[in-house]
Amino acid sequence: MKIAPSILSADFGKLDEQIRAICDGGCDLVHVDVMDGHFVPNLTIGPVVVNAVAKVATKPLDIHLMVENNTFFVDLFAPLKPQFISFHIEEEKHPHRLIQKIRSYGIQPAITLNPHTPPSAIEYLLEDLDMVLLMSVNPGFGGQKFIPSVIRKAKELKAMINAKGLQTLIEVDGGVNDKNVAILAEAGVDIVVAGNYVFSNPSYKDAIESLRC
Ligand code: DX5
Ligand code: ZN
Repeated sequence: MKIAPSILSADFGKLDEQIRAICDGGCDLVHVDVMDGHFVPNLTIGPVVVNAVAKVATKPLDIHLMVENNTFFVDLFAPLKPQFISFHIEEEKHPHRLIQKIRSYGIQPAITLNPHTPPSAIEYLLEDLDMVLLMSVNPGFGGQKFIPSVIRKAKELKAMINAKGLQTLIEVDGGVNDKNVAILAEAGVDIVVAGNYVFSNPSYKDAIESLRC
């Protein structure tokens, strides 16, 4: 299992220190939640802050867009060279075109599914994606309760990926902790995002290690 701490739960007063601590603590990716106050009822950070994060991080960035105008935000964040940019399928009229745009920047494209969105929504996009991000909370806030139906969804998605002979990664985001990570691993999940669980632990390293399975 790969671990992507979400910096949404970090102390932004000492962000550089916190980014160093998760990277030194052995995380695999730094998960960055970009919210625009329209697609979700919360507002987070833009390229100025994410650029500062990118300078300190020794692990690749995993940018999760929760916005209305995906194309605008992809163009805005692409110069920061994240490993992944994911956008929500619920908010995109031309997902195939956007996938091509993300890939043209040399960035790995991913699509995010809200808790109610079935894997069939991306059946004809799967072969063009490097990762699918399954929300296990309603997007917008850290520290929410895990929605268990994501386990069934991950299994269904994994079966689709295998049936097509693809290597697409599955990432799960929201309410992940040391109690539910094993069942996610069993369901075929490759990467978990963890915000509150990692940043509320006195040792980020211990928290990250406890999610490894
Ligand atoms: C929610 C975000 C998540 C969130 C995860 O909209 O996409 O990345 O920060 O935080 P926890 O792990 O606290 O649920
Ligand atoms: Zn996220």
